[in-house]
Amino acid sequence: MTVNEANQYIQKNRNKVNNMFRHNYHVMAPVGWINDPNGFCIYNNEYHLFYQFYPYDSEWGPVHWGHVKSKDLVKWEELPVALAPDQEYDAGGCFSGSAIQIGSELYLMYTGNIEPDKNDQEKKRQVQCLAKSADGIKFEKIGNNPVISCDEIPVNTRVQDFRDPKIWKFGDKFYAVIGSRTKDDKGQILFYTSEDLIKWKNINSLSIDDFGLVWECPDVFSLEERDVLILSSQYIPEEKSGSQNIYACIAMMGKFNYETCDFKPDKYQLLDCGFDFYAPQTLKTADGRRILIAWMDMWQRKSPLHELGHNWRGAMTLPRELIMKNDRLYQLPVREIRNYRKNDEVIYGLEVFDEFQLKHIKLKSHEFYIELDDMEGKVLNIDLFRCDDEAFRLIIDGIKHEIILDRGRIGYLIESLNRPGDYIRRQPVTSLRDGIRLNIFVDVSSIEIFINDGEYVMTSLVYPKKEGYISFRVDRPVILKEFKKWDICL
Ligand code: FRU
Repeated sequence: MTVNEANQYIQKNRNKVNNMFRHNYHVMAPVGWINDPNGFCIYNNEYHLFYQFYPYDSEWGPVHWGHVKSKDLVKWEELPVALAPDQEYDAGGCFSGSAIQIGSELYLMYTGNIEPDKNDQEKKRQVQCLAKSADGIKFEKIGNNPVISCDEIPVNTRVQDFRDPKIWKFGDKFYAVIGSRTKDDKGQILFYTSEDLIKWKNINSLSIDDFGLVWECPDVFSLEERDVLILSSQYIPEEKSGSQNIYACIAMMGKFNYETCDFKPDKYQLLDCGFDFYAPQTLKTADGRRILIAWMDMWQRKSPLHELGHNWRGAMTLPRELIMKNDRLYQLPVREIRNYRKNDEVIYGLEVFDEFQLKHIKLKSHEFYIELDDMEGKVLNIDLFRCDDEAFRLIIDGIKHEIILDRGRIGYLIESLNRPGDYIRRQPVTSLRDGIRLNIFVDVSSIEIFINDGEYVMTSLVYPKKEGYISFRVDRPVILKEFKKWDICL
């Protein structure tokens, strides 16, 4: 499989994609499957984003790196495929990794997956590799690959699970954090340093008991006075993560020592309590904002897109700005999205009895701002994509103090492979006395809900069969302090 073959295949097959559920303002591949965001970086003053990409099917296959760039993190331009699994050391896929600009060149550091026999996991290996580019478009793998082989991992680490390098520069050294799994099945992060990107030394590691089997896609950065380690953990127990997904993304806050590469976490939180969010990666903008983007989907799920033969699956979340507030990471939709707001509609101070329907708003690509007064002791259903009895339901429950998503009563259902009827997500909240504020981004088949200025975020895919609208239903009257709707038009 080569880059040229992939690019030719894309040109021939891009018009075979069914547009019915395609998003309008989220990054997608032109055709085929995508998963993790990779190499999220700034190169020559433009944002570049790569992604795990298998153009040939709407299911995962030996991954390539797809590529887009943007001036504002909202409108993205498609570029040719950057990497294909065309070497012995990455024949099983060019797995996730990151990017860094050095001088005028753009370097990609990624994991070569070597899996000569699917039925014999003993033969599997994961190694770290480099590719570079002089123009940010055409990449060449370097001659010294792999730059970190399985000889350079601690003895307690499985050679089959050693992947997803995130690289950055601090002082005059390069640092990399790499996800892994210990031989006794604990998620683990390995810390490496290098002077030249070619020779790497393992300096330290971090693992925690009973916190998932494999840690994938780590990222380290500092925000305000805190150092943050983000990781995506497979099979993390719900009582530890608060996540009802079997794979969950956690942010650990603590202190990172750049000499010893010792990361001491003292606190952690779940990043998204919806259904579809995984493998986030961050960058720092020129004006100092920390922006995160994630895969807006999840492993171990069936996809209606695949079953319906739509020839594509997978997208990125809206980029989110991370803010440290009350020692918690808040996430806000990237502010540049506001430049694409059109056709606003506003309602102030409406008392809602029984049901309030906005039938003229046919849901497609929008932002909503909804502010409610005191919700204690009351329950409000916000139905999105409502049509007859079908709806994607967001419940603000001021009796049980929970925010609930229910996607089990709409359209093509998204089935979990190992949890039948897995259609509900819950986020406990302490009090609704002061009301609640919601920023909701809808984009054809996705919903991202930012609660109370990003204290919690819930992300979900949805595949409605019919055109729907938005409606509100209450048991006791509720004051809708403010309702705003914008269309998002790129
Ligand atoms: C996370 C992940 C990574 C790996 C990639 C393979 O979603 O499993 O650990 O590099 O996907 O596509």
